[in-house]
Amino acid sequence: MTEGQEEAQVSESQIAVHWREEEYYYPPESFVQQANAADPAIFDRFSEENFPDCFKEYSDMLSWDAPWETILDTSNAPFWNWFVGGRLNASYNCVDRHLAARANKAAIIWVPEPESDEPVAITYRDLYHRVNEFAALLRDFGGVKAGDRVTLHMPMVAELPVVMLACARLGVVHSEVFGGFSGNACGTRIADSGSRILITMDGYYRSGTVQDHKVKADEAVAEAHKQGQDVDKVLVWRRHPGQYASQTPMVEGRDFFVDEVIAQYRGQIVEPVSMPAEAPLFLMYTSGTTGRPKGAQHSTGGYLAYVTGTSKYYQDIHPDDTYWCMADIGWITGHSYIVYGPLSLGTTTVIYEGTPNYPDAGRPWRIAERLGVNIFHTSPTAIRMLRKVGPDEPKKYNYHFKHMTTVGEPIEPEVWRWYHEAVGKAEAVIVDTWWQTETGGFLGSSLPALKPMKPGSCGPAVIGIYPAIYDEDGHEVPDGKAGNICIRNPWPGIMQTIWGQPERFLSVYYEKYNKDPDSKDWHAWPYFCGDGAVRAPDGYYRILGRVDDVINVAGHRLGTKELESAALTVPEVAEAAAVPVVDDIRGRAVEMYVSLKPGSPPGDEMAKKVTRAIEVEIGKIARPKNVWIVADMPKTRSGKIMRRVIAAISNFTDTGDVTTLANPEIVEDIRQQVQEAKLAQGEKPKELSETEVEEIKSFGTE
Ligand code: WT7
Repeated sequence: MTEGQEEAQVSESQIAVHWREEEYYYPPESFVQQANAADPAIFDRFSEENFPDCFKEYSDMLSWDAPWETILDTSNAPFWNWFVGGRLNASYNCVDRHLAARANKAAIIWVPEPESDEPVAITYRDLYHRVNEFAALLRDFGGVKAGDRVTLHMPMVAELPVVMLACARLGVVHSEVFGGFSGNACGTRIADSGSRILITMDGYYRSGTVQDHKVKADEAVAEAHKQGQDVDKVLVWRRHPGQYASQTPMVEGRDFFVDEVIAQYRGQIVEPVSMPAEAPLFLMYTSGTTGRPKGAQHSTGGYLAYVTGTSKYYQDIHPDDTYWCMADIGWITGHSYIVYGPLSLGTTTVIYEGTPNYPDAGRPWRIAERLGVNIFHTSPTAIRMLRKVGPDEPKKYNYHFKHMTTVGEPIEPEVWRWYHEAVGKAEAVIVDTWWQTETGGFLGSSLPALKPMKPGSCGPAVIGIYPAIYDEDGHEVPDGKAGNICIRNPWPGIMQTIWGQPERFLSVYYEKYNKDPDSKDWHAWPYFCGDGAVRAPDGYYRILGRVDDVINVAGHRLGTKELESAALTVPEVAEAAAVPVVDDIRGRAVEMYVSLKPGSPPGDEMAKKVTRAIEVEIGKIARPKNVWIVADMPKTRSGKIMRRVIAAISNFTDTGDVTTLANPEIVEDIRQQVQEAKLAQGEKPKELSETEVEEIKSFGTE
């Protein structure tokens, strides 16, 4: 038990969560008739008795250079190895193998943000050439080879999947950092992964203006250098080839325009490097409870098989569909369900550069109408926003979705119903997919033709995934009670390790519920997801949110420690604490509390400095809603900041018993200061759901 756990008044698992059972919605017959998975026998094929052999069905969807011999090797538990002995290339699987049947079909349709610019279709043949040319450049000009890491910091342009697939062609491990992250955040990830090459773009459109993006590359290289990693080359794509959109100079001998260098590689063909199934394909960084980001390392064979299988059955992707996932490729959703899954299946995947509501709330529906999108995938945050700014927009456009996805955060049933009725025109089936950066692909979702939808629940576990909800001591909790959701078995999409931090892989995900660290039996190693969840008697799961110090803002994970260390880079700040506030659009927003060193003047300027520090260290997505400068933080006698107390103040909920604190008197002062200011800003205390209240009450007690 760590300090602070003793202060937890109720553990997640003791809380009975009462929530209204929602009605089922059934998939339309027209959907069922064409679905990839329409035969209930699939549940038997993937039942626990058939594990792990059931996953052969997914590996059979890929083209292998050499077949695997062992489906699952557990000898280095819990560092699982899938499809051992098999060899394949991910780029071959996503590009080359489609040439025979559909070379002239669009692999990617890229939609620039300015609406006056036409969408650009890239056929599979065209993609093949672009990937080969860039692979040749990477190999011969970049000097990289299989196993090397390359960092990408690219926006939503078609060049991003081209670069990813070029890396995959060479067996080079790509690490794409979300374009909205700051230069410093990118630099930290460059250093952590040991990349010598950074691939970026000069600028991109966001809400009608061109963002200077290359400036972040200079910051990233400087930050990486500070952390001991030198970058030899920065490869800069230009949003408009030949026209440089950035204010920053190109550094002689380090920075190169891709559109200039690529000329020497025109028409070159690079044989795909045949990689072992367990070779890493990419790293995807995510936040945890410490400041250092975690590079989830994903494999070539297991990952690709898993995203291909789940894209086929859960996204119901057929080669003739036009599929649009609005997520950013800089997050795992984009890697798995914009790039690798859809392209492996040979479909058309749409990539949109800009913000969904630019220039107005009708934009997504015009794109859907214009391109004939029939599968649509987005997050609750985007749905809430589009509902707020344009509730009646969808009906003005003549598009028809057969299938829609929501991902990344819990969706309120009322928002779900708008998605179903307004966006889906009551003719689309919906899947609410629950999963994580670490898991590679879906963990919870209804199988669209075979299980009804239930608003607010992600549905049952996906096929081949066997969850359990445990209390703190590892006992399963009964249905209707909240606990820590774990996955009892390994699956092909699970990350292989945390890059460079195998001990963290063990301690964060497995230590809590493993009873025998020497066991080579997978049954001994439940995977700890870090989410609270409840199972209903029908086997549907409702995800309650993180049980660790992670705040889910608009479906993106922000670690409290990262936010706090960013605030502490301001020299005047003595202490900092980040807490979540319930937000109508983004699910949660961040509020920062800081106390200053003696003699430092509080005030707006100081608050702005803290916000600015967070933008520099992490990026604008992490910008706090408010920065409260307080005289002191509420603390336990052992000196731990009581985040749940300030979280309660920020959310206008009950702070609970504070009499055991070292400084209980400060609580009232902070409450007055913060709540008065909030009311003066026009903020109204919200009616919170029971689960939201519980989240606030137990925040930071883990
Ligand atoms: C965390 C993972 C999954 C890709 C995008 C986010 C939350 C995710 C759902 C959902 C309720 C969800 C969980 C999870 N989450 N999907 N459908 N319903 N909560 O990936 O950044 O790794 O975040 O997002 O808390 O642990 P991520």
